[in-house]
Amino acid sequence: MAIKIALLGLGTVGSGVLKIIKNNQKKIKQTSGEEIVIKKALVRNPNKHKNVAKELDLTTDFMEILQDPEIKIVVELMGGLHPAKEYISDALNAGKNVVTANKDLMATYGSELIALAAKDRCDLMYDASVAGGIPILRTLSTSYASDMISEIQGIINGTTNYILSQMGEKGLSYDAALKQAQELGFAEADPTNDVTGKDAAYKIVILSKFAFGTKIGINDFTIEGINNLQDFDIKQAQKMGYVIKLIGIAKNIAGKLFVEVAPCLLPENAIMAHIKNEINALQIKSQSLGTAVFTGPGAGSSATASSVMSDVIAETSNYVKQINGKPFSNFSRIMKLTSSEDVKYPYYLSFDAEETLFTLSKLLSKLEIPVREIKRINQKTVVMTEEISRQQLQDLAIQDQYLRASYKVLK
Ligand code: HSE
Repeated sequence: MAIKIALLGLGTVGSGVLKIIKNNQKKIKQTSGEEIVIKKALVRNPNKHKNVAKELDLTTDFMEILQDPEIKIVVELMGGLHPAKEYISDALNAGKNVVTANKDLMATYGSELIALAAKDRCDLMYDASVAGGIPILRTLSTSYASDMISEIQGIINGTTNYILSQMGEKGLSYDAALKQAQELGFAEADPTNDVTGKDAAYKIVILSKFAFGTKIGINDFTIEGINNLQDFDIKQAQKMGYVIKLIGIAKNIAGKLFVEVAPCLLPENAIMAHIKNEINALQIKSQSLGTAVFTGPGAGSSATASSVMSDVIAETSNYVKQINGKPFSNFSRIMKLTSSEDVKYPYYLSFDAEETLFTLSKLLSKLEIPVREIKRINQKTVVMTEEISRQQLQDLAIQDQYLRASYKVLK
């Protein structure tokens, strides 16, 4: 008996899934216990997919999938909140197991869909929603089952990492690097969420649930992307021995949870500083394991499809054993979020050099901001601070109109 699945969407990831199923069927059967067959694929325009029309039953009508009792697993790869949410809810209510790569959806409606899956005794898995091909969610829910995580620092958006690498190393302009990331299939259909940090924020919301058991919303923390990052800061950081990366952080600070997405400076010899282009990395600190780094392709067709297939295979073996319906992660705990006084980091500050060094130094000293280094470069002033609280930083931003950029300096 083959397990019949349906794909919702046949874009970058969908075509990767198709290829893996076609090429690796023998191993899939050995590992899952059954042959896996794509029975139908939902597409918007079948004319665009003529190359696969012979091997696949294409449909534009979701009801054909929903009402087909042979289809046991629905794989949602359309992206976006709607109608993905409705399709997934309908599929679960019809007793079908679901795999999705949709981080926007799982970060926004995750709790609701997880509860629905439990009620319907179906699997809902979404390993591909975070860090593309890196099997991080399954690792957190299984390998870290007994460990207490204190911090996750991640490069979890391939597009922005690609842009920053190309700007920093090849001297490409922001626009040219973004265009390449789009052509290579790393960016979202609309790359706004990539460059503004929202895509990484969705992923850190999902990671926080798996790592800390705590449900947070996208509006509960600061999100800053790379769209306002200036070439000056990238070059200046390099001169000072740092690399700028867009980092998602979720950290337990004295029992409270600190979450943020923002460009940060990393020392050029740090492991994460060497993670380039579309590669993602997650540095996890935990009580038992200590520090571990997981790295691999975070975007792109075959890498993301491989994660999707690991979920399809897990659901297939659950189906074979008749044990569908267990949550992807059981960990649940309420943690308060940190306030601005709780969080301390050293900062790189960049000022428009309209004010004298004397005035700036006086203000920094008034706010008790300890300075490690202060430099006037061309028309700007750059300050490296020792550890300061976010509250001090906010006070500085209010009192100094020339502060143009502030980035955390990580170890
Ligand atoms: N646009 C996303 C990225 C795709 O660049 O990381 C993978 O989630």
